[in-house]
Amino acid sequence: MSQPTIESILQEKRQFEPSPEFSQAARIGSLEAYEELYRKAAQDPAAFWAELAEQELYWFKKWDQVLDWQPPFAKWFVGGKTNISYNCLDRHLTTWRRNKAALIWEGEPGDSRTLTYAQLHREVCQIANVLKDLGVKKGDRVGIYMPMVPEAAIAMLACARIGAPHTVIFGGFSAEALKDRLQDAEAKLVITADGGFRKDKVVSLKPAVDQALADNAVPSVENVLVVQRTKAAIEMVSGRDHWWHELQAGASADCPAEEMDSEDMLFILYTSGTTGKPKGVVHTTAGYNLYTHMTYQWTFDAKDTDVYWCTADVGWITGHSYIVYGPLSNGATSLMYEGVPRPSNPGCFWDVIEKYGVNIFYTAPTAIRAFIKMGEEIPNSRDLSSLRILGTVGEPINPEAWMWYHRVIGGGRCPIVDTWWQTETGGFMITPLPGAIPTKPGSATKPFPGILADVVDLEGNSVGANEGGYLVVRHPWPSMMRTVYGNDERYRRTYWEHIPPQNGQYLYFAGDGARKDEDGYFWVMGRVDDVISVSGHRLGTMEIESALVSHPAVAEAAVVGRPDDLKGEEVFAFVTLEGHFEPSDDLKTELKQHVVNEIGAIARPGEIRFAEALPKTRSGKIIRRFLRNLASGESVAGDASTMEDQSVLEKLRQGS
Ligand code: PRX
Repeated sequence: MSQPTIESILQEKRQFEPSPEFSQAARIGSLEAYEELYRKAAQDPAAFWAELAEQELYWFKKWDQVLDWQPPFAKWFVGGKTNISYNCLDRHLTTWRRNKAALIWEGEPGDSRTLTYAQLHREVCQIANVLKDLGVKKGDRVGIYMPMVPEAAIAMLACARIGAPHTVIFGGFSAEALKDRLQDAEAKLVITADGGFRKDKVVSLKPAVDQALADNAVPSVENVLVVQRTKAAIEMVSGRDHWWHELQAGASADCPAEEMDSEDMLFILYTSGTTGKPKGVVHTTAGYNLYTHMTYQWTFDAKDTDVYWCTADVGWITGHSYIVYGPLSNGATSLMYEGVPRPSNPGCFWDVIEKYGVNIFYTAPTAIRAFIKMGEEIPNSRDLSSLRILGTVGEPINPEAWMWYHRVIGGGRCPIVDTWWQTETGGFMITPLPGAIPTKPGSATKPFPGILADVVDLEGNSVGANEGGYLVVRHPWPSMMRTVYGNDERYRRTYWEHIPPQNGQYLYFAGDGARKDEDGYFWVMGRVDDVISVSGHRLGTMEIESALVSHPAVAEAAVVGRPDDLKGEEVFAFVTLEGHFEPSDDLKTELKQHVVNEIGAIARPGEIRFAEALPKTRSGKIIRRFLRNLASGESVAGDASTMEDQSVLEKLRQGS
């Protein structure tokens, strides 16, 4: 099953209406209601968001100005004071939700924990005090490198509580990648665990932190706080490393939330781009809080009785916005699961749904494609009748996978919300509102109210219905990234100048290709830059190339994505060797492992092909288009006459 092509989705005509019962009970229950909201928001986005901010969030002090837009720099709710940890915790404590489950956690080996809002608040306050005792002050950055345990969410909320921006680094990243990110953020403290459980194995984390910090490589880090999860033997550096449970035991549970400015930085999250090292995407407090709050509430049609489960890792934006902040700000019950489907337990997701009566299930197309392969008998043998909404995110979903998800997991009755968004956007941008917008398999449907999305050409002109173009946003929104950490210029260049501003109108360039159909539905086609998506994980081809050339045997490397039935794309690397190295299978294995060491297992090349030379233009630029064709076994498309050396392609084709 391959990724959707323009041709395949142009032929997709199926449409699914929400049932009348679903719509009747929904927060936004008809297409007219959505359109009315959309119209109102588009007329005056600032007024629309201000009204919701007033209704939906707690403010220590109200803002003076809703939006200050000095393109491409936006400030929302200027002069306001709030705290997202307060909005996620404290304000629920004076309501019946005090004793409602905030987090339900299922560990991989079968252990589990439930934390009510009161319990979660208590632990967050204790850890916030621990951080303060370790010298973390408002504005200091804290690195979080954790498995999927409740302490990851507690750590994030504790940082937010005292105004220390967190930077969560996915636990699958290597020590090298961790070091880069900690250095860039100049983290003062790192929160980690001895390890975690993944695919029936104990994986270690603390040793990677030790390695990242070795030789004083990140001098800003003063302390490391370690959660005991696996009880594996680890080294604790005296004076630097502290056990979470020991310090928590002695910490007060009284820690009032810091009054944060709306625009105080909430977190940095690193993500891959076309060039250079990963960028630190900066999100700030109030706008992010409001936007993740509203998108959670309307897109998942939140009901107070729901058990909601997002299968992402907290190390990605999906985990930030839709495991932690969006759901908890709404007082929802958010489920966290440490495991992933694996051959020894292919039904584990369905067991979790059955065990907890999950109502809203949010996962990625790559997982759905893996389930299809495993056969529908597995989910069919579980009780999935509690489900009422399904969600998908991370990459385009092919209509066949959508149909399978709808039929087998949703029993034909659950609306599917295909949510298009990015680390940079903070929250859902294009998504169905499930009681209002009829869905079409493979389409993320319509923009969220307040989001002026469009498909344009390189001059910024809207293209016609069903014509391909670039996905852009024409007006700032509350949870948009504010900058690339420490690099305003890179922010401006990457997102706002790709399509040159016209008459002072700036367009946010998402990096995705898309088309809009005759009903105004968006069909996202995937990246138009050198970013690839492997199992929904976003990787920059440049990053992998840099990792490869840092190996002494490698002279040059070019990485492309090769379409893959399960993962969406797979890393395919063309490599030329330094003179005295010979191609061999052992060297391929070594190079693959080298990439794992430099970045992490998610970037491991599926295939490496040795080449004598890479196809280049006369000016020396690698022609990736040809390499993509070669990697996917297609004939090389387009004009090869600009190539410097015509024999290169033939050799590559024959290469091993
Ligand atoms: O290409 C789009 C794809 O994922 C990219 C963003 O990746 P990341 O920042 O890691 O965030 C992933 C989770 C929000 C986008 O530029 N993408 C995300 N959601 C969809 C999607 N492509 C198609 N359909 C989606 N629903």
